[in-house]
Amino acid sequence: MDVSDALRLRNSVRVFRDEPVDMTLLRDLLAQAGRAPSGGNLQPWRVYVLAGAAIERFRTTMAARLETNPEPDAADYPVYPDPLDEPYRSHRFMVGEDMYRLLNITREDKTARRAWFARNYRFFDAPCALFFFVERSMGPGQWADLGMFEQSLMLLLKQHGLDSCAQACWARYHRTVEDFLETPDGYILHCGMAIGYADEDAAVNSLVSQRMAVDEYCQFMES
Ligand SMILES: Cc1cc2nc3c(=O)[nH]c(=O)nc-3n(C[C@H](O)[C@H](O)[C@H](O)COP(=O)(O)O)c2cc1C
Repeated sequence: MDVSDALRLRNSVRVFRDEPVDMTLLRDLLAQAGRAPSGGNLQPWRVYVLAGAAIERFRTTMAARLETNPEPDAADYPVYPDPLDEPYRSHRFMVGEDMYRLLNITREDKTARRAWFARNYRFFDAPCALFFFVERSMGPGQWADLGMFEQSLMLLLKQHGLDSCAQACWARYHRTVEDFLETPDGYILHCGMAIGYADEDAAVNSLVSQRMAVDEYCQFMES
């Protein structure tokens, strides 16, 4: 698989087969993703891996948190601008509609939509999960570096037959995550990531989200 294939074939997967991820392989892919570029070579990414008994323990902790107090934590960073202006608002709306259509969940069926969304907080039952942090002292440049690391990893996963879903939803409960992981003071959670092998029979995994045409976001100046 070349880079173009990995870019084209990677999509967010939200239903996984019950098959473990080889930790030796994952460690190797995380090391390879560490070749991602970063301004000044700061390498500001900080990553935690959960699998096996640890991910089950985490799921139990998170379920208890949501059961006793579903109120999100005070946000460490705004996941989206508020208000979200056009065209971004429509992009967000469209991917949601495309996903719920594949799930056969109508816009009116708020209960089913909520139940589906809640699966986020089980990492969609994936066998493995990551959390990505950056230190509070870091700025937008380092957040961009972290994004490059995350995408590098997702492409490497794809190359090795593994699938993923980045999940900023975890930022809403960052304290629970940080307490569980016992992260050092000053870490900010960017997102989680579910990792595993896609269940090819799940229609939602076939979602090919729409993209802008290149001329909508790129200006060529040649003369
Ligand atoms: C940083 C980041 C956070 C995301 N957070 C979530 C999330 O919380 N839940 C979810 O289901 N998908 C999440 N996604 C997946 C996006 O919805 C998805 O990448 C986008 O719609 C494009 O679709 P594709 O990944 O299938 O190409 C996230 C993606 C990124 C990059």
